[in-house]
Amino acid sequence: MVKQPKILIVEDDERVRDALVDLLKEWGYSADTAANGTEAWEKIEGVEPAVVLSDLQMPGLTGLDLLKRTRQFSPAISFIMLTGHGTIQHAVEATRLGAFDFLEKGTDPAHLQVVLRNCLDRHEGERQLQIAHRKLRDLGALGKLVGNSKKMRQVMSLIQLVAPSAAPVLITGESGTGKEVVARTIHELSPYRSHSFVAVNCAAIPETLIESELFGHEKGAFTGAFESRMGCFELAQGGTLLLDEIGEMPLTAQAKLLRVLEDSKVRRLGAKSETTISVRVLASTNRPPEEAIKSGNLRRDLYYRLNVVHIAMPPLRDHPEDLEILAASLVEDLCQKHNRPTKAIDPEALRLMYEYPWPGNVRELRNVLERAVVTCAGDVIMPGDLSNPVRGLAAAVTV
Ligand SMILES: Nc1ncnc2c1ncn2[C@@H]1O[C@H](COP(=O)(O)OP(=O)(O)OP(=O)(O)O)[C@@H](O)[C@H]1O
Ligand SMILES: [Mg+2]
Repeated sequence: MVKQPKILIVEDDERVRDALVDLLKEWGYSADTAANGTEAWEKIEGVEPAVVLSDLQMPGLTGLDLLKRTRQFSPAISFIMLTGHGTIQHAVEATRLGAFDFLEKGTDPAHLQVVLRNCLDRHEGERQLQIAHRKLRDLGALGKLVGNSKKMRQVMSLIQLVAPSAAPVLITGESGTGKEVVARTIHELSPYRSHSFVAVNCAAIPETLIESELFGHEKGAFTGAFESRMGCFELAQGGTLLLDEIGEMPLTAQAKLLRVLEDSKVRRLGAKSETTISVRVLASTNRPPEEAIKSGNLRRDLYYRLNVVHIAMPPLRDHPEDLEILAASLVEDLCQKHNRPTKAIDPEALRLMYEYPWPGNVRELRNVLERAVVTCAGDVIMPGDLSNPVRGLAAAVTV
């Protein structure tokens, strides 16, 4: 039998609650109830309903409080807010915080039925996607991430485990190991994927501009601020923000960032009011974070906040068994990019690639193969198509 998705009704007025239960039963759904926000929160944590249908105004934990907690706990749960008359601003606030929809009490039941149907379809889509990606992982790929070794499989399992949640993830690993690929994969597998993925390289932005870049600014906030501008947090609203090279961020910006993460609110430079944000935050660094903390470049409290889940990308030399599958997948990609029919790799060329230590990791592998794909005339990549260091020769002197 197909497992029925659970719908939780949260309503302090018993008559309204019972009427809703009757309606849902009539439509063939199984409904659970809670008489207040606190009781509802216990049930949400316990049974993870597919949909929460909640009253806005309740004594104690309000509908908005419940919505915030639910979004943090699992964005896969759809939230429909039921509102009384004259509470339109709250309803707007609710949709901004990620409520799927809001309905006025006493609304046409047929409308409620449509909204519920959409919610459940979304939930089912989410479930199917997870299943599809699990299958993909078994074939040695998860989204754009390729690898079949034990190390890469561990990485893929961890990604699948954390993607559906709102937890921050810290991704570490040497340059070119695929940290950004991991971040994008997490985004693609998460309920945030219908909104933007924004990556900001903290090392590439001048110290004086970083806060404005992250948090935005109002017109006239500083010399040269001719117009107000959204920051990365606002740009990533509802989606995912990757803070790349987090250890390179100035300490004052780190302190502000921590506050934004704690409060889920951002204030543009020079602004009076704050904006509530619902953004999945990922961070990455190619230097060991412990070292950055020791040298005073990374705030320990920020590190703890970001390091809820840690994904460590192995350097390519530690999972050489992935070289062949990686090379094949990259060649396929690159041939497509350069409009060439897919090429094979000669066994001797592959042997040379196994002997090379790949200090630049998968990025270097990709670069070497890109050159090979472009210069190779035939349909097999030969040793001569590989660049000198890979062939064991000193690099050609370029002037
Ligand atoms: N496991 C992987 N599967 C497929 N492609 C990969 C993998 N790892 C890396 N790549 C490819 O290698 C290149 C570099 O990856 P990415 O930009 O994610 O590295 P990075 O760890 O963020 O590096 P940096 O620290 O220099 O920013 C990209 O072109 C990416 O497509
Ligand atoms: Mg990167």
